[in-house]
Amino acid sequence: MNKYRQLGNTNIEVYAIGLGAMPLSLDGRPDEAQALGVIKAFVDGGGNFIDSANVYCIDDSDVGHNEKLIAKALSKQEDTENIIVATKGGLRRPKSDWTVDASPEWLRQSCKKSLMDLDTDSIFLYQLHAPDPDVPLADSIGELARLKAEGKIQHIGLSNVTVEQIKLALSITDIMSVQNRCNLFERTSFNNGVVKFCEVNNITFIAHSPVGGHSQHAQRAKNSLLKNLAEKYDASTYQIMIAWLLHRSSSILTIPGASKTSSIMDSLRAINVELSKEDMQLLEANIK
Ligand SMILES: NC(=O)c1ccc[n+]([C@@H]2O[C@H](COP(=O)([O-])OP(=O)(O)OC[C@H]3O[C@@H](n4cnc5c(N)ncnc54)[C@H](OP(=O)(O)O)[C@@H]3O)[C@@H](O)[C@H]2O)c1
Repeated sequence: MNKYRQLGNTNIEVYAIGLGAMPLSLDGRPDEAQALGVIKAFVDGGGNFIDSANVYCIDDSDVGHNEKLIAKALSKQEDTENIIVATKGGLRRPKSDWTVDASPEWLRQSCKKSLMDLDTDSIFLYQLHAPDPDVPLADSIGELARLKAEGKIQHIGLSNVTVEQIKLALSITDIMSVQNRCNLFERTSFNNGVVKFCEVNNITFIAHSPVGGHSQHAQRAKNSLLKNLAEKYDASTYQIMIAWLLHRSSSILTIPGASKTSSIMDSLRAINVELSKEDMQLLEANIK
């Protein structure tokens, strides 16, 4: 299995297992020392792609928590030249709720704040968190294209989208990545053609919630087939779920979340799990 994944049509490759930084900033988050330790362990363990969002925080008064944490952690690392931080705009957190606002005004305002919180002049990958039913997608993408032309962001990504929405975005600008929920138990993006479309068009498919998601991972990890295979491969059930995604397509980049150092260290080791064709088929057929 290739341990690296190409980003869009660039010649930049990142380690195939990134860090989903969301659990470091939501309600119930770890203290700062633990959170910084998770990011350090990830980078020291060879990881170099970190996924963030301005709204990984408790509520609207806390927007930027995750980005500031990442900036702080990376400021303590010696060599960060090859570390890629991707963030997102297009949501809000009123009273801890999650609401969509992909209006051009809010995207521009959010991007400006993300630049400050990440302590950078230019964001490498800026993702539209989700299309806004109240704003034409072309208007949201158009604003991202303007931010790119101004140099505030270098590449544009999409999240939570269909093939039709990706096509519309591509008619306006280049798209480097698509980030949708995707794991062994949630295969919509395989079934509706999004992963295939990304493969054909040199778009990196970033699988979010790769081990079942923030609230479901613990239950998913108890699956009996996963347990059997974990024993067979001397791996954890989480590693089997990550390895399955990485074997499905060389366009897939995984971003398992972690609030504990032990979790991200375990996830990084999934790169060594070489699932046989038979076991890939067994997983496909028996887990729905
Ligand atoms: N674009 C979007 O709309 C969207 C939506 C959701 C998520 N995301 C992104 O995708 C990332 C991943 O999704 P997620 O965090 O919701 O779900 P996830 O990665 O499926 O599950 C995360 C949880 O699984 C546990 N875990 C992960 N690997 C483990 C391992 N090897 N061993 C033991 N436990 C392990 C962690 O527990 P501990 O906390 O105990 O370490 C973590 O909190 C997020 O962090 C975020 O960056 C994007």
